[in-house]
Amino acid sequence: MHTKKPLSGVRGIARTSIISLIALTMGAAAVGFLLLPTAQADFRAQGIWDSICRAAGLPSKWGNPAAEDRAKPMVSTNVVLLPAMSKQARPASIGRGATLALNCTMCHGALGMSRSDAPNLAGQYPEVVIKQLMDYQSGKRENALMAALARNLTEQNIVDLAAYYASLPKARTAPTSYDETLPALVRVGDPMRNIAPCISCHGGVDQKLGAPWLEGMPKQYLVQELGAFKSGKRRNDGQQQMRNVARAMTVEEIEDVSNFYARKALPGH
Ligand code: HEC
Ligand code: HEC
Repeated sequence: MHTKKPLSGVRGIARTSIISLIALTMGAAAVGFLLLPTAQADFRAQGIWDSICRAAGLPSKWGNPAAEDRAKPMVSTNVVLLPAMSKQARPASIGRGATLALNCTMCHGALGMSRSDAPNLAGQYPEVVIKQLMDYQSGKRENALMAALARNLTEQNIVDLAAYYASLPKARTAPTSYDETLPALVRVGDPMRNIAPCISCHGGVDQKLGAPWLEGMPKQYLVQELGAFKSGKRRNDGQQQMRNVARAMTVEEIEDVSNFYARKALPGH
C-alpha cells in the first residue's frame, strides 16, 4: 500500500497556497486596474498601461501622450465667451436681426417682452443670446422647441438676432435701491454656503460676461431655470457657476429671489 510521505503533504499545501496567492494577486490586479476604472464615469478603454497608470495615480501620458485629451471630462458648453461678443453692433446687423426675429415674436413677444413664461429677450446682453442659441444648437442646453428653432440659424443670423435684442429697451421694473429690502442672497450672498451675491454677476453691481440680465423676467421662468440648475437638468453653465449657487439654495429662497427679479413696474411708472 502506498502511503504519502508527510513532507510531500507539506509541499502540496505550499504549492496550493502559492498557486492561490498568484491567482488572488492576478484577480485583485484585474479588479483594481481593469474592472474598477470602468465603473468611473469618464472611463474609456485605453489599454492596460493606462489603467495601471490610472490606478497608480501616475500621469498616463508618460506611457501614452494622447491619453490626456481623451480623459477630459464632458464639457458643459462648447462656447468660448469673448469680450467681442458683447460689443455694440452695427445698425445693419440690428436691421437683419429685426427681420429674423419675426420668427420669435410668437413666444418672446413683440419687442422682446414675453407675454407667456418664455424669457424676455429685450435688452439682453448680446453674448448671452449668442451663447444660449449656440448651446441649444449643440444640445448643451436641452429644450426641444428651441433646439428646432436654433438648428437652422447660421452664425451670422445668431449674431444679428443678438444685436437686435440687445438694442431693445429692457423691461421696466419697480425701482430698487439695492439696500436691505433686497433678499439677502441677491445683495450679499451667503459666504457660509459659498454663494456670491447675484448682483455681482447679473448686473446691479457688476456683470460677468455671459451672465443674463434677469430683471423683469417672468417669475415662472426664473423658478424653472433655478430648479433646473439645482437638479442638474440644465448644465450648460461653464465651471458650474450657476449649479453651485442653485444647489445651495432652498426652495423658499428660489421663490424669494424669483419674486424679487420678476417684480413689475408699478402702474404709472
Ligand atoms: C414656440 C415658442 C418659442 C419660439 C417661437 C421661440 N422661442 Fe426662444 N425660448 C422659448 C422658451 C420656452 C425658452 C426657454 C426654454 C428653456 O427653458 O430652455 C426659450 C429660450 C430662448 C433663449 C434663452 C434665453 C435666456 O435668457 O436664457 C433665447 C436666446 C431664445 N429663446 C431665442 C429665440 C429666438 C432668437 C427665436 C426666433 C428665432 C426664438 N427664441 C423663438 C420659446 C420660444
Ligand atoms: C459667479 C457668477 C454668478 C452668480 C453669483 C450668480 N449667477 Fe446666475 N448665472 C451666471 C451665469 C454665467 C449664467 C449663465 C449660464 C449659462 O451660460 O447658461 C447664469 C444664469 C442664471 C439664470 C438663468 C437665466 C437665463 O435667462 O438663462 C438664472 C435664473 C440665474 N442665473 C439666477 C441667479 C440668482 C438668483 C443668483 C443669486 C442667488 C445667481 N444667479 C448668482 C452667473 C452667476
